[in-house]
Amino acid sequence: MTIKRIGILTAGGDCPGLNAVVRAVSKNALTHGIEVMGIRNGFDGLVRNDLFKITNETVSGILTLGGTILGTSNIANPFRYTLAPFGTPQEPKDLSGVVLHNFKENNLDALITIGGDGTLHMSQRFVELGLPIVAVPKTIDNDLSATDQTFGFDSALHIATEAIDRLHTTAQSHHRVMIVETMGRYAGWIALRAALAGGGDIVLIPEIPYNDDVIVEHILERKNRGKTFSIVVAAEGAQNEAGEQTIARTVEGSTDAIRLGGIAYKLSDRIEQRTGIESRACVLGHTQRGGTPTAFDRWLSTLYGAKALDMVLEEKFGFMASFKNFQMSEVKIAEAIANLKRVDPNGDEVKAALAIGMSFGSAKIG
Ligand code: F6P
Repeated sequence: MTIKRIGILTAGGDCPGLNAVVRAVSKNALTHGIEVMGIRNGFDGLVRNDLFKITNETVSGILTLGGTILGTSNIANPFRYTLAPFGTPQEPKDLSGVVLHNFKENNLDALITIGGDGTLHMSQRFVELGLPIVAVPKTIDNDLSATDQTFGFDSALHIATEAIDRLHTTAQSHHRVMIVETMGRYAGWIALRAALAGGGDIVLIPEIPYNDDVIVEHILERKNRGKTFSIVVAAEGAQNEAGEQTIARTVEGSTDAIRLGGIAYKLSDRIEQRTGIESRACVLGHTQRGGTPTAFDRWLSTLYGAKALDMVLEEKFGFMASFKNFQMSEVKIAEAIANLKRVDPNGDEVKAALAIGMSFGSAKIG
């Protein structure tokens, strides 16, 4: 089969590096004489038939640009479509047939989907319906097991680390406890690595249930040693020993219906009450997904994008580009979505953190 025209979309939450992937895919395709159609706002563009032609000019100068020139959506799910005017949250519609129709109508020979867990699940369903898809893994959460690192994670990590650095000086001056909340969904990668890189005193991650008593004890023990401030890094998905997480809200129709968030505020109140030390919460939120990608993410995104187009040329449909042992490889999308990659409580990173005196707010590890 000769590939003449491909479509490319970015779906799910945005992150630094998306444009670098779009640029690498497009440059590689255009060099091979392949036409590239940008699909707007994830799979929504294939529902609404909203596509535009990408040229060398379109992708010129976007390597360093955050966000995505294609737009994205983490609520446009063609299998449970809730957006007006075609669907409503009360009556979600299956518009996968429309996507298949528009794919054909636009004479696309292949589709490159750039997204995280939710996008990969949708991509796999479309592969099963016959769409020739190659996927590229994106997420600041770094929670995909089939790849050593997703692009976007390094940039988020840098932002979180810089925030911890800045919070140190203000915590020190005011003799306060600062609770900094990171994103990451059900994985603690951003929180743990930022805590290690920024010198956090306590880190709470979803993989290790915390207990308030242990947190309070650690803060008071630091105070007794003359450390009048403490930095707590809390992943938004951290859970207590009863398995309770802090949910900000639920989003109907999304492949990721539960939005986590708010643990820092709740914890700050409890810590202040129990320690008598003034406490403040700082929720980093979407700052972790914004702005220019780090050098590492620009590099990784370029490798992912170039690889994805090579996979299209080799007709590796139903596969995802993967980064393993500092080499590009490929893995079935179905395999990539089978397991989430989470922090190993017995792994080296947790051991190192414990070895340097960091607390996980738990008496049950190490
Ligand atoms: O998956 C990326 C992510 O940023 C998570 O870390 C976070 O829980 C979620 O997306 C937030 O989603 P939204 O942009 O819909 O608030």
